[in-house]
Amino acid sequence: MSRLCRIVYCSRSLITGSRADIELKIRTILASARTKNRAANVSGALTFNESCFAQVLEGAIADVAPIFERIRRDPRHCDVRILAQSQAPRRLFPTWSMAYVEPEYGDGRHPLAHFSFEAALINGASNEARQLLESLRQVVTANTEHSVG
Ligand SMILES: Cc1cc2nc3c(=O)[nH]c(=O)nc-3n(C[C@H](O)[C@H](O)[C@H](O)COP(=O)(O)O)c2cc1C
Repeated sequence: MSRLCRIVYCSRSLITGSRADIELKIRTILASARTKNRAANVSGALTFNESCFAQVLEGAIADVAPIFERIRRDPRHCDVRILAQSQAPRRLFPTWSMAYVEPEYGDGRHPLAHFSFEAALINGASNEARQLLESLRQVVTANTEHSVG
């Protein structure tokens, strides 16, 4: 069995339009990502705060690498910055072809409320990756409390 790897990156969104337009465009990306990731046995999570994306991709390196290369070249975002890329002992999002976590809840209790996408884009480092992974995992595993989908 090939070894599992995990890539965590963040990027700056180039998607424009009204809130509804943006939401629709994100849902379009997600729908296609889920189909392709499922077919390639890739799992992960995506989050978006209206100016930046952060995403976790996990699977066999031979499956994750071509998907990440396509994502990196996608004109809907720029400044793709890898925060972490490593082998992983197990999947953190085993049942998700791509979970979607909306960071805006307005109640201040959301695990991503204190994550700075800007700091991650500028400093991009393992600290940011750890914080992001932990927050996404919390939201995705507690998905009865927070909307994921
Ligand atoms: C932020 C973001 C995240 C994406 N995530 C995925 C993903 O997880 N899997 C995937 O196959 N495509 C993803 N895409 C879409 C790819 O970049 C690409 O458009 C898609 O794979 C189709 O590529 P193709 O037109 O070369 O077949 C994402 C795009 C963006 C902007």
